[in-house]
Amino acid sequence: MRKLFTVLLVMAVVCGTLFASGSQEAAGAVVGNAAKPVIFFNRQPSDPTTGEIQMDVMEWNDKTYYVGFDAAGGGAVQGQLIVDYLASADPAVVDRNGDGVIGYVLCIGDVGHNDSKARTQGIREALGTWNGSTDPGQAVEGSANVGGTQMKVVELASMAMTGLDGSTWNANAATDAMLNWATSLGNQIDMVISNNDGMAMGCLQASNYPEGVPIFGYDANADAIEAIGAGRLTGTVSQNVDAQATATLQVIRNLLDGLTGNDVIAKGITEPDQYGNKISADMEYLPETKALLAANTGVNASNWTEYQAGARDAGIKQTDAETKRVILTIYNSADNFLSSSYVPALQYYAPLLNLDLTIVQGDGQNEASCLDRFTNLNSFDAYAINMVKTNSGWDYLDKLQY
Ligand code: BGC
Repeated sequence: MRKLFTVLLVMAVVCGTLFASGSQEAAGAVVGNAAKPVIFFNRQPSDPTTGEIQMDVMEWNDKTYYVGFDAAGGGAVQGQLIVDYLASADPAVVDRNGDGVIGYVLCIGDVGHNDSKARTQGIREALGTWNGSTDPGQAVEGSANVGGTQMKVVELASMAMTGLDGSTWNANAATDAMLNWATSLGNQIDMVISNNDGMAMGCLQASNYPEGVPIFGYDANADAIEAIGAGRLTGTVSQNVDAQATATLQVIRNLLDGLTGNDVIAKGITEPDQYGNKISADMEYLPETKALLAANTGVNASNWTEYQAGARDAGIKQTDAETKRVILTIYNSADNFLSSSYVPALQYYAPLLNLDLTIVQGDGQNEASCLDRFTNLNSFDAYAINMVKTNSGWDYLDKLQY
């Protein structure tokens, strides 16, 4: 059914494009919505259970791309950050109850999200607690080098962290979980690990958070970086939000400027574009999934000052490109990473690239909260989509077929 639809769609796009180019001189460029750029970002079109990328969505048209970061690589960076911390720690200090076991609790985030899965896997692989599943409760006994002594590692508890309203990656749920864990597990807890900074900061909000227990997050949000500086958070991982936000916009700019082929994912990204812009950080393009990805870096007490807020990419300057209109969805207005890091970066770089952004923000649980405001589509030149559910891509694309 989808195949037939895709074939019809391709015919429609081809006809639309022919019609558009034929009538271009006479009536100005008329491009059907189905032929306009569509960039998915931060939430990759994928199966929430298996994590498999939905290539039917990614092949919607030749202007469809995903911009994110290297999720698997990031999980490994997070695991390494924790292992490095343990290797240089004093076992007598880390093992709070002296039972010879390093116990940790894990905030998972969203069990149906690729990024969350990759981080759970990276952490468990590094600590030897991985048994092939990213589900809560599915860890085995592991071991790690703690200051030169090989010690047992046990995942005492883990939770997805779903809010009362159904939203995922929920920081309040993490505060509640930490309250309960600190009460029920006491000084068996030697480490707290969280798949994002929002939940890590949520754990630190628990009134009974065990003082001095190391805690790791992910995202390098401004408040988390400051918490590292203040000695409250032990480490986090930067997924290079500036590179991702700029790349999302740059790919749109390139497509709207008529670039094709490799230029779409190279200009302004790995080589200067016609305006002299180029993202400073490294990005990698995976053609098989049409995914443009930023690299991750570990952040801890040794380098946190390099990640303090306000450091924008000097490689991106004001252009004189023609102004274009883009509608962009954000799955949850309350998501810590998107609201405190990603959206501010978009708002900084979009005017430099002369992209006029209309941002609609959802509630993190109902697709309709974004979809119902994904409207007036004819008046936009391009679409940037952050879905509530990672397998909702077609709900948006279906609205572009006319
Ligand atoms: C971030 C999370 C965020 C999620 C939203 C992830 O890449 O690390 O903090 O909640 O994206 O989709």
